[in-house]
Amino acid sequence: MDTIELPLPDDFHVHLRQDAALASYVRDVASQFGRGLVMPNTVPPLTTLSAILDYKKQILAAVPHFEPLMTFKLSPNYTEETLYAFKEAGVVAGKYYPAGVTTNSQDGVSDFESVFPVIEIMERLGLVLCVHGEEPGAFCLDREEAFIRRIEILAKMFPRLRIVFEHLSTESAVKAVYALPATVAATITVHHLIHTLDDIIGDSLRPHHFCKPLPKRPADRFALRSAAFSGNSKFFLGTDSAPHLKGKKECPCGAAGVYSAPVAIPLLIQIFEREDVLRKLSNFVSGFGADFYGLPRATQTIKYVRNPWVVPEEVHGVVPLAAGETLDWRLYGQV
Ligand code: NCD
Ligand code: ZN
Repeated sequence: MDTIELPLPDDFHVHLRQDAALASYVRDVASQFGRGLVMPNTVPPLTTLSAILDYKKQILAAVPHFEPLMTFKLSPNYTEETLYAFKEAGVVAGKYYPAGVTTNSQDGVSDFESVFPVIEIMERLGLVLCVHGEEPGAFCLDREEAFIRRIEILAKMFPRLRIVFEHLSTESAVKAVYALPATVAATITVHHLIHTLDDIIGDSLRPHHFCKPLPKRPADRFALRSAAFSGNSKFFLGTDSAPHLKGKKECPCGAAGVYSAPVAIPLLIQIFEREDVLRKLSNFVSGFGADFYGLPRATQTIKYVRNPWVVPEEVHGVVPLAAGETLDWRLYGQV
């Protein structure tokens, strides 16, 4: 087989950044995805309707046919009125960042219970809760595992709330998501299917592979791959594509985030093909996520051809995932 046609994929976790760079990042995402759940960890963060709508306008100005699914950054300060206005305006989710666990999350949630009233309103309004599940203060490799109990508490307290445990990185979290009710789903990134901690610090230091949550042990990667290949509708793609300029990664205090947008789908085709599970790819990238969010599945399709290409070393000043590597599949028509 030398061509593959997929329903146009959705990226249920993507960072589009701001200012001059935004348009280039949006174009990269929109070249292979129809919709993207846009993360709110901008500076300042997306916390008001006017900021959200203004950001959406900027994204649409870059690519009018792309569909940005908007989010807000969770805090204890929202009123029912504000959340109702978000819902009416088509905002789909609120993002829970525990304070300080990742890029631009210093203003995140520091008191778990303080956000319960806001979450209760989200449950009633049908807004999805997306969670960066890492426990502040825990040892870096244990942060996700330490956070699982909070997801369990939320699922129990708010039985109608849809919760997405974002960018899973551990076998324990995969098991927890399987065990929790159907209201709890999870995103999986491309880089967590490829990397373990060895790819960041096992040999030389690889700053462009550095991201939160950290990729962990081979057994964790195996569990993530099994979940992605399983055909279980709780697991779907959220790339967490998070561009940082080269100089912000190659420095004494490097930023966390992997830029995967330009290569995400070709890499996934390669990974799924090599595991002989290509038939599972379509639902993972273009089905289960839309179903969970209650969105129609894509009707447009996108085509890839087997025609090896070398991933550029740099894209708009950012070193992308798999830079310099040869990939088997390319977007049809891409030179
Ligand atoms: C993301 C970023 O750079 O905004 N970084 C990352 O390492 N994944 C934030 C996030 O989603 O954690
Ligand atoms: Zn992210």
